[in-house]
Amino acid sequence: MSDTLQNGPGPLGFVIRRARPEDCGDIVRMIKELAKHDGLGHKVAITEEKLREDGFGEIPYFHCFVAETTPDSTSESTQIVGYAMYFFMYCTFMGRVIFLEDFYVYPQFRGSGIGTELMKKVAQVGVETKCTKCEFIVHDENSSARRFYEKLGAVNSTVEGDWRRFFWYKFDVPSMEQLANKGS
Ligand SMILES: CC(C)(COP(=O)(O)OP(=O)(O)OC[C@H]1O[C@@H](n2cnc3c(N)ncnc32)[C@H](O)[C@@H]1OP(=O)(O)O)[C@@H](O)C(=O)NCCC(=O)NCCS
Repeated sequence: MSDTLQNGPGPLGFVIRRARPEDCGDIVRMIKELAKHDGLGHKVAITEEKLREDGFGEIPYFHCFVAETTPDSTSESTQIVGYAMYFFMYCTFMGRVIFLEDFYVYPQFRGSGIGTELMKKVAQVGVETKCTKCEFIVHDENSSARRFYEKLGAVNSTVEGDWRRFFWYKFDVPSMEQLANKGS
């Protein structure tokens, strides 16, 4: 994989690497930006501390790649400009599944191949870990992201797999607790 790409009038070098605990502040900021982009900014309750605990503890509940700029002649400092977060699930029909939870690149860094390289890394993990598919959900109005995924070869399983007849349910914490303690 090439680490150095051209971005607009100046050279933009970047690397894609695994996130480290000290990246969690940057990751939270990007999670909030992505949520705002989807009109869900008010829903984000995650904190840097929680991310560090959940992603880098004994059991990692998620995995994450970040895109970081590399130092150049004008600046020694680097900046995290995008991320792809994923975790593993299991499908009883198929087997292992890699689920892409979040995927984001700051607007001023888009269109330079960073998103493609992040997705490529996630796909490589999926292949290496023998996953049967890489799944994710996209807002129906996010046509630019939908185009991006489709160009990379993703198919819309809501349509192709006829998932339109399924609803996405959840137990929230009070209802989980109520159920967990039922009868006791
Ligand atoms: C989806 C996203 C991560 C892609 O990141 P990216 O770094 O722009 O991806 P790439 O540069 O690899 O490819 C983007 C494609 O869009 C085109 N593009 C050009 N300018 C662009 C711009 N300003 N913004 C977005 N895409 C642009 C690119 O040319 C490329 O198409 P091409 O392969 O035909 O050239 C990024 O657009 C993003 O963060 N979007 C908002 C958040 C989002 O929708 N996330 C997905 C949620 S499901």
